Amino acid sequence: DAPADRLIGDRNLLVVSNREPYQHRYRDDGDGDKRIVVDEPIGGLTAGLDRVMQRTGGTWIAWGDGDADPDVVNTANCVEVPPEDPQYTLKRVWLGEQEMREYYYGFSNQVLWPLCHDLVGKANFEGSFWQRYQAVNETFTDIVTDRADDDTVVWFQDYHLALAPRMAREELPEATFLQFWHIPWPAWDTFRVCPQRRELLEGLLGNDLLGFHIERYCQQFLDCVEGCLDDAVVDREAGTVHYDGRTTRVAAFPMNVDADRIERLSNTCDEDAWADFREQYGVGDDVKVAIGVERLDYTKGIPERLDALETFWDEHPEWRGELTYVQKASKSRIEIPEYQTLVETVHEKIAHLNDRFGTDDWTPVVYVDEMLSDEELYGLYRHSDLALVTPIRDGMNLVAKEYVAAQTGDAGVLLLSELAGADESLGGDALTVEPYDTAAFADQIVRALTMPTEERVRRMTSLRETVGTNDLEAWIGALFEAVREQSASTDGFETD
Ligand code: G6P
Repeated sequence: DAPADRLIGDRNLLVVSNREPYQHRYRDDGDGDKRIVVDEPIGGLTAGLDRVMQRTGGTWIAWGDGDADPDVVNTANCVEVPPEDPQYTLKRVWLGEQEMREYYYGFSNQVLWPLCHDLVGKANFEGSFWQRYQAVNETFTDIVTDRADDDTVVWFQDYHLALAPRMAREELPEATFLQFWHIPWPAWDTFRVCPQRRELLEGLLGNDLLGFHIERYCQQFLDCVEGCLDDAVVDREAGTVHYDGRTTRVAAFPMNVDADRIERLSNTCDEDAWADFREQYGVGDDVKVAIGVERLDYTKGIPERLDALETFWDEHPEWRGELTYVQKASKSRIEIPEYQTLVETVHEKIAHLNDRFGTDDWTPVVYVDEMLSDEELYGLYRHSDLALVTPIRDGMNLVAKEYVAAQTGDAGVLLLSELAGADESLGGDALTVEPYDTAAFADQIVRALTMPTEERVRRMTSLRETVGTNDLEAWIGALFEAVREQSASTDGFETD
């Protein structure tokens, strides 16, 4: 069988997301001439889905973010990717500044993002955000309906596109729609705060299959449906919702990482490459290294972590000069005031820690904001003694899994927040952190640093088994198995 046959037979696959996997950008080559470079997906959602698409072929529809598009796309705004060995089509959607401001920075990231992460206080329910969110969902829908027929499988991603499934359903009553919601789903008491709760739920119920990372989010989604939509019939046991003549199955599919690939890449970072990295960033030769890797997002718990590190060095002076914390951070959603404040807070806290504890030959916190290649990133994971993955709320957190997959050398210790979805599968072998409990957090850092080798190896071996067995392949397999089951059961797809 061709790979695609094992997933969806010969049906056409369309993936629809806000973020694109490949970005074509101009770069000055130094002589004043511009050449085009392609940024490839490194981690997270786009990297995971790119592997799926490379396997199945098909079309991925996404917002075109690069500045070199006019020179790479064809008349249909499509480009074949990956550039070096094309496997599928990337169809770009052009969005103007106003659309980005109100749909992306607005409703998606100032309403749905904080709401779903249970941070209602950070939400901004400006009316124009909603109008534009509807309009952009329509734009994506038009592109989908142009390219799909009733035999197409359309896979919507995430919270940017909650309305599109219902919109597209009107044109494509028989096509298979699935959506994966990559962030948490909140409790009904939180979700009901949203003025557009009904439309959002109805939009998502245009899908045949709706996937979340963990069972709790599924149950919370079903609570919201019961609380909000009087006519909906929820079957908890079957995990289905009957509404408006259709059935949607709601199920958990914990997302995983491509463990083999990460392992392979992490192995390319040998001792010499690691020594170079340390030298470049001023990380001493004989200090232990803890890492944190994330977008600068308030859900990631970076200020809370820096507070815990302060308590740690404060109360355990024996660790001053002995541990450096490397914060790899990338700027994110920087037009949003909350994100700007976060950047300032993080920089201030790091400066404060380095002022307070730093010496001529030891920097407590090293901040890395350069892009790292995936070899460098996974090398950093591999050689670090601890990973601090301590979000204050996170749908899954793939960094935790990537760190584990990269532990091919001396076993490191994963400190993991109990507020990340990843805690469900990794919590038993990671050291659990409550990110707001600063004193207990600091104690866990000490515990990780002083953990007997035997325990460290035992925990990491078990974590690696979990991450290696439940890899990206298993996630894709489970999702598409569910798609096939649904397609086979006429019951689940009946329209009245
Ligand atoms: C989260 C979301 C993704 C999003 C990513 C990066 O993982 O679930 O949908 O693409 O963050 O955020 P950005 O706003 O840069 O796309």
